[in-house]
Amino acid sequence: MRRLLAILIAAGMTLAAANTVEIFSWWAGDEGPALEALIEGFEAANPDLTIDNVTVTGGAGVVAKAVLKTRMLGGDPPDSFQAHIGKELIDTWVIADRMEDLTFLFEEEGWLDVFPPDLIDLISTSEGIWSVPVNIHRSNVMWYVPAKLEEWGISAPETWEEFLVVCPAIQAQGVTPLALAENWTVQHLWESIALAALGPDDYDRLWTGELAFNDPKSVAAFELMNDVLACANADAAGLSWQQATDRVVDGEAAFNVMGDWAAGYMFTTLGLEPGTGFGWAPAPGTDGIFMVLSDSFGLPLGAPNREGAIEWLRYIGSLEGTDTFNPIKGAIAPRTDTDLGKYNAYLQSAAADFASDRQVGSLAHGTVANENFMSTFAQVMEILLDTGNAQAAANAAQALALQTGVGR
Ligand code: GAL
Repeated sequence: MRRLLAILIAAGMTLAAANTVEIFSWWAGDEGPALEALIEGFEAANPDLTIDNVTVTGGAGVVAKAVLKTRMLGGDPPDSFQAHIGKELIDTWVIADRMEDLTFLFEEEGWLDVFPPDLIDLISTSEGIWSVPVNIHRSNVMWYVPAKLEEWGISAPETWEEFLVVCPAIQAQGVTPLALAENWTVQHLWESIALAALGPDDYDRLWTGELAFNDPKSVAAFELMNDVLACANADAAGLSWQQATDRVVDGEAAFNVMGDWAAGYMFTTLGLEPGTGFGWAPAPGTDGIFMVLSDSFGLPLGAPNREGAIEWLRYIGSLEGTDTFNPIKGAIAPRTDTDLGKYNAYLQSAAADFASDRQVGSLAHGTVANENFMSTFAQVMEILLDTGNAQAAANAAQALALQTGVGR
């Protein structure tokens, strides 16, 4: 009898595991609503499957990625996990042979015709296609509140030189010119400033190894960054990206350079209307350029519920999944057949820019450099923050690029 009971319990547990799909991401709390809507849609479409939504909180996945690494390397993969497309996905997990090729799913679902070829390139190697993109985010955006700018008698600067001119005038009114948060947001700011200082061709050449980080042109970008940092809040290290955004919304700071998940936060969580509640402009000096990053989910080899994970991937890549997730997330769709009517005014303008702008990749969110470079670049930012020595920071970045094989 007892034995029978044990067998029944074990069978029940196996069944439960077969019905549960564990997905791993950093979309918790304020960042959670879009993922939660996606899960709800998935469970409605797949009544026999339940998502175990495992999140490790922290912007840009800085903490989540460390936890994931321990699990993946320790042989305990989730069924599917969030990873940025580009180098982060390929150089961390694909070259380590930890992912399953998803070409079959792209073929079954006709995705080779609806995802842009450039995006497919970023998730592919000659051996296969390795994840399903769920969004396209823009990194180089400057946010503000239009009514506040009017009150202070300023407008969104088109260049960093213009910003540096208005910086003291903003400070004189008791307002912080630029809201900044923890280290990864400094890196996020750096990529927009480097793009402005170098222009898109030289910015791209940093990632192919053709332009050194300590070339005089690159040093000039670090110098510009240094000047801009003098216009930021001194307590940045203790703030999350949402708290830095709150400073802008509350009128304590004039501007914030952040990816357009900030639009998702202001629209979905704070209930602000694009255009009136918040305004936006390309980060200074980057008009006509769209710095791209994209979140995706893949299928790790050894996923406990491989079949369930495939259904999850099938759903998140579908038109229904895309248009459920992105309007809430503050991202544009990675698919070309999306219904723009479902997207707010900010997202419609981002979609238009994405179609017409020159595209470059983000460093802070995994598109252009491997994860070793990206995570250790935090120390390069610390050198700049602590010493204000642009040349030393540039030398450190170049040493790091050589150590981690940027451009190889
Ligand atoms: C990025 C990610 C976005 C958003 C942001 C803030 O790396 O791609 O979707 O989550 O971090 O945490």
